[in-house]
Amino acid sequence: MDFKTQIAGAQGLAGLGADALLVLVAGDAVPAGLDTPLAEVLAAAVNDGDFSFKPGQALYAHRVTGVKAARVLFVHAGDGSAKPWRKAVAQGVGQLKAGGSKTLALALVGPAALGAAHAEALVAAAEEAVYVYRSTKPSAAPAPKLRSISLVVDKTQQAALTAALKQGEALAAGVGLARELANRPGNLATPSALADEARKLGRSHGLKVEVLERKDAEKLGMGSFLSVAQGSAEPPKFIVARWLGGAKNAAPVVLVGKGITFDTGGISLKPAAEMDEMKFDMGGAASVLGTLAAVAQMKAKVNLIGIIPACENMPDGKAIKPGDVVTSMSGQTIEILNTDAEGRLILCDALTYAERFKPAVVVDIATLTGACVIALGHHRTGLFSADDALAAELLAAGEQALDPAWRMPLDEEYDEGLKSHFADMANVGSRAGGAITAAMFLKRFTGKLRWAHLDIAGTAWKSGAAKGATGRPVALLTQFVLSRAG
Ligand code: BES
Ligand code: MN
Ligand code: ZN
Repeated sequence: MDFKTQIAGAQGLAGLGADALLVLVAGDAVPAGLDTPLAEVLAAAVNDGDFSFKPGQALYAHRVTGVKAARVLFVHAGDGSAKPWRKAVAQGVGQLKAGGSKTLALALVGPAALGAAHAEALVAAAEEAVYVYRSTKPSAAPAPKLRSISLVVDKTQQAALTAALKQGEALAAGVGLARELANRPGNLATPSALADEARKLGRSHGLKVEVLERKDAEKLGMGSFLSVAQGSAEPPKFIVARWLGGAKNAAPVVLVGKGITFDTGGISLKPAAEMDEMKFDMGGAASVLGTLAAVAQMKAKVNLIGIIPACENMPDGKAIKPGDVVTSMSGQTIEILNTDAEGRLILCDALTYAERFKPAVVVDIATLTGACVIALGHHRTGLFSADDALAAELLAAGEQALDPAWRMPLDEEYDEGLKSHFADMANVGSRAGGAITAAMFLKRFTGKLRWAHLDIAGTAWKSGAAKGATGRPVALLTQFVLSRAG
């Protein structure tokens, strides 16, 4: 999809030459200053009880006299701020994409003003609305005809909003990559395939990509990561990708993404229902690659390193068993009481590995616990950090990018449950507070690092009729990285 800005001429919105006109209506009255033919249609519909100024309200009109665009769609956009605007754009584009329009002009009317956040949200919503997964379903509905969207702007804002659309396109490309990779089934999106995708991204976006093999991980002493991989016929891959756009000596931001390409639970086997969704258990890894893609496309002046431990969690004659004790790269020993708590077992070695980059901050991203879904549902990502300033930065980035998180506690009392008779720690605590004990486990491997953990179990994908990956939290992470670039 192509995005641009456009200035309304003397005839205003009614004179715009697009196939369709999407009018986002802010406020609670027919906006003063709206071109007469459009204002008349809207006022008549309000009068007839067919439109009101409430969320979700829309009005379609075809070949309105005096309006050049053949199709007009009004959608209510709340107070016109970025969040309801994004929902309204998604609704409007979702409706219009089914029709014959190739070009769409989009305008905000009413008592609200456009900003950069609107431009970015527009691109995100439109790209999401037209996304069709087809890599294993070539018969999927053909891509919509819609190929160009122009945002109607004031002359004074044109340069800033054109630049914001461009940023939005880079971000949407990153979100799209994460969504696409996570949607691919486990038999295709194997650890090797993820490594290939990382290398491909490296070539197209100027990243330095390195893939450590099993023997390399053995030499490094990654006994915890390798223990999860040992039950699978797929070789593990430990992927390190770097975008070095900042000053040579500037400490990097390091992102660590959980890359379990399929999670059966291992010997602590998961129930059959919905187990297919465990192909999304590499959503953290996908979001790291997506963020690298976005940041590299923006040519951001920042050093960003992505680390992805990737493997499958399978039951097998060689698989880890409850009670097994493994030695992590940090030297700490772990009693594996539940082989389904595998995410933390691969992340702990990746966190230890991250130390060598002397990072400014480390953020890990993982579909880590069902308990986080129970705590926060599917709207907010779980954020854990002992560092107040870092937590505040991440929360703010989430709000700004409309990809919100919520802070969870990390009191030392929660560590109690990880005690083991046979190792330095167990890999699970009691069921209560499961998302927090998982984070407490990771915390034991972060030493002096400035570290935060994002549990995206509830936000990385959607279940049910609209089953599919969301590409979250690429928007949060990209915003976070950019704000650190200054
Ligand atoms: N990948 C799962 C977490 C998950 C489960 C995410 C359901 C989204 C939906 C993770 O590896 C896991 O199995 N966690 C266990 C931990 C437990 C054994 C302590 C869980 O949440 O049940
Ligand atoms: Mn698991
Ligand atoms: Zn898992």
